[in-house]
Amino acid sequence: MEKHIVLLPGDGIGPEVTKAAKRVLQAVADRYQHSFTFENHDIGGVAIDQQGTPLPEDTVQAAKKADAIFLGAVGGPKWDQLPGHMRPEKGLLGIRKQLGLFANLRPVKAFNQLLHASPLKQEVVQASDLLIVRELTGGLYFGQPSERRNNGEEVVDTLAYERREIERIVDQAFQSAQVRRKHLTSVDKANVLESSRMWREVVEEKKAAYPDVSVEHMLVDAAAMKLVTNPTYFDVIVTENMFGDILSDEASVLTGSLGMLPSASLNENGVGLYEPVHGSAPDIAGEDKANPLASILSVAMMLKHSFGLEEEAEQVETAVQEVLSGGYHTADIDVKGGTKVSGSELAAKVVDQIGSNDTTENIMRCYV
Ligand code: IPM
Ligand code: MN
Repeated sequence: MEKHIVLLPGDGIGPEVTKAAKRVLQAVADRYQHSFTFENHDIGGVAIDQQGTPLPEDTVQAAKKADAIFLGAVGGPKWDQLPGHMRPEKGLLGIRKQLGLFANLRPVKAFNQLLHASPLKQEVVQASDLLIVRELTGGLYFGQPSERRNNGEEVVDTLAYERREIERIVDQAFQSAQVRRKHLTSVDKANVLESSRMWREVVEEKKAAYPDVSVEHMLVDAAAMKLVTNPTYFDVIVTENMFGDILSDEASVLTGSLGMLPSASLNENGVGLYEPVHGSAPDIAGEDKANPLASILSVAMMLKHSFGLEEEAEQVETAVQEVLSGGYHTADIDVKGGTKVSGSELAAKVVDQIGSNDTTENIMRCYV
């Protein structure tokens, strides 16, 4: 299979984790005889420095032509003082919008090897396996520009949705639930917000089309509590852009580190942008301390969702599991009796694992 991948390393630890993602993609290509080609482009702070804008046109054009996109991270204190439209984050929001990446899938799984790394009790976290489906191109993040203002005395952000925007994300969530444990929790604030009341209406309308999925509504404050008191209760959560942003960082404590959470952002044509949920972590940038596993697991999502390579995706996930079972971890995770290694060393272990696994199966393949 031939695929062309656009890499957007971005800022802070972005370039380090992107390098890890690329190495893993290359390892998969070598083992399974695929051909992946790569093209790097600027986004975020680095793009502001190089080209005077957080989202240069050549980045958008290249991303539109790619089979898949990998993004490291954007932002950092260096650009904090810039006006809103010039901040690095604008690059990320802009590419999500321009590519129509409305469906953000954020799986959260507690790895057995890392249970004790979570600040929560082991028996609470154990067996947590949920998927947050976050709406990504509407809501509070993208209020109407005419209404979005700050005149010094009064400030306004708006939370707007068109019905069809809610419909498509709710459909996506029902479909995700169908291939999992078939339970959907729609999270909103319908006791206060008009937008949430329409959200509930849409979920109620849609559920007839997915009779195999059980569905319920939950207020966002209650959901935030349940996520850390009874996380195994959840299968798929679907929610508005900002609620999803907040809940996904909260859910990362189940995995022991924000450095473990991958994500996929898909549009209506199935084109995807893959990125670790963690940010640019400027405090450790350039020190080779960043955990590459969120990026590597994002690569697994790319293989599965954009390229339909289920076996390869599973191989990457297994390799991560095996490296964790070997006790290897980066500094963000406190594994008792484990071996702390650098980010690039951890990525190398995953790459080795991908290359070496199932050799018998490989040999068998040569003979059939
Ligand atoms: C995320 C990030 C972004 C968001 C920021 C960097 C704009 O926190 O992907 O979760 O809020 O969507
Ligand atoms: Mn976030």
